[in-house]
Amino acid sequence: MENNAVKMEGIVKRFPGVLANDHVDFEVRTGEVHALLGENGAGKTTLMSILAGIYRADAGNIYINNRRVHIKSPRDAIKEGVGMIHQNFLLINSHSVAENITLGYDRPRFLLKRKKLEQEIQEIGQKFGLEVDPQAKIWQLSVGEQQRVEILKMLYRGAKILILDEPTAVLTPQEVQELFSTLRRMAQAGHAVVFISHKLEEVMRISDRITVLRKGRKVATLATRDTNPGELARLMVGREVFFDIKKSPPKPGEEVLAIRDLHALSDKGLPALKGVSLSVYSGEILGIAGVAGNGQKELAEVISGLRPAKGGKVLICGKDLTSVSPRRVIEEKVAYIPEDRKGVGTVGNLSVLDNLILKDYRRAPFSSGTFLNLRYIRDHASSLVEKFQIITPTLETSAKLLSGGNLQRLILAREISCSPKLMIAVHPTRGLDVSATESVHRMLLEQRENGAAILLISEDLDELTAISDRLAVIYEGEIMGIVEPKEVTLEEIGLMMAGKKRKMLESSEVTS
Ligand SMILES: Nc1ncnc2c1ncn2[C@@H]1O[C@H](COP(=O)(O)OP(=O)(O)OP(=O)(O)O)[C@@H](O)[C@H]1O
Ligand SMILES: [Mg+2]
Repeated sequence: MENNAVKMEGIVKRFPGVLANDHVDFEVRTGEVHALLGENGAGKTTLMSILAGIYRADAGNIYINNRRVHIKSPRDAIKEGVGMIHQNFLLINSHSVAENITLGYDRPRFLLKRKKLEQEIQEIGQKFGLEVDPQAKIWQLSVGEQQRVEILKMLYRGAKILILDEPTAVLTPQEVQELFSTLRRMAQAGHAVVFISHKLEEVMRISDRITVLRKGRKVATLATRDTNPGELARLMVGREVFFDIKKSPPKPGEEVLAIRDLHALSDKGLPALKGVSLSVYSGEILGIAGVAGNGQKELAEVISGLRPAKGGKVLICGKDLTSVSPRRVIEEKVAYIPEDRKGVGTVGNLSVLDNLILKDYRRAPFSSGTFLNLRYIRDHASSLVEKFQIITPTLETSAKLLSGGNLQRLILAREISCSPKLMIAVHPTRGLDVSATESVHRMLLEQRENGAAILLISEDLDELTAISDRLAVIYEGEIMGIVEPKEVTLEEIGLMMAGKKRKMLESSEVTS
């Protein structure tokens, strides 16, 4: 008797213009962590959404514990023991943890005595290392804690097969460690875990087996101990991938961005920036390292005009642009790649074409007076789609239907096409596959060659040390130090990220 928790056979799923899953076979065993890998748009989320009852396959069969099942809704899926944790959590902010866990769950009312419920939640939490206060309100929790609530919710409903779609993309290194120990405990308790990620080191570290999809097809299922990141990248992309980045020595020019003693508040009205000062020069990449939630988001928003400053100044090429409108900042040729691709970065209901010209349509040659130059706009948009390799069925396709990586390419295409003087990139490669990450890095370096000043905010230390010329570490709204990546160890950066100050290096010392 095989210990297959799940067997999917010949799964086919078509969307308008796309064959997202092309006769995919996929099986997960009880007691294993099975990683699902593939480039952006390879069909990972689609395949798992079929298992979780969100989409219905056009063809193919699903077996759970060797029994053919018909999953037509998320409710059917949970009855079969399948629970999926999505990248965007579906929790209600004003409700408590316990309320969110039971919301919409149709267990008879009288069983849901509050005390007992809270106790049950705590027991599951202890068993799997998912500790959260059942009475806390969702808005009080960090992203990592909210994710724990989503996992608890599924376990509470009896899920034996847990699917996590890029769960680490939003976590700090510490939280990733905790999540991994939870995944291990779940596997040991006889659950089956499907783990989707683009980070090959993570996949090597946590999984027992790996299935690779490419362009909707399954290319391989391998035992993790028999493979390596190079082979995985090759299977995913269909060619050799080079992990090292070629970078010319920096030639910093004039000061493009000057931030002086900047103060700002967070959404909750608490001080998020407490006197930040830094400069970014033409032709250089200044990286900002730090654990999420230490003021990075607020810093990017104040510079791009989305959040007012409480004190201090933002100067761009010598012009005071403190607390002006986003439109005014765009006029100064500032490109912004926001953390939130779906809310701030794109308008989901608009087409790919409209999103590509979102910032340009008011000016020539896109419009002349009151008329839009439709021919020019179409040509411009299709050349961007081609140049940036945005995979989309048509220019009229809604942006919300693009895969994560393709949406990010769209934003980059739009932002880079204005030849920015200053570029603010917030987690630009989060959720991107190896080759998309490679191309984003190449594009950032190209902008640097063209003399743009780039502020790169990231939590990925490998990325930061690989492409930044200087690195500033932020902690609780203050800069702990500005260093040259080559001259410090990862430990030193880690210490600064935890709040230890370092003697500030002036950029002149660094570059002379
Ligand atoms: N609801 C939908 N309607 C139309 N097309 C869709 C829909 N969902 C996904 N697609 C398309 O199906 C293909 C597979 O998408 P899917 O989201 O499964 O990829 P993925 O492997 O999860 O990618 P990523 O790593 O970027 O998350 C893509 O081309 C995507 O644009
Ligand atoms: Mg996906």
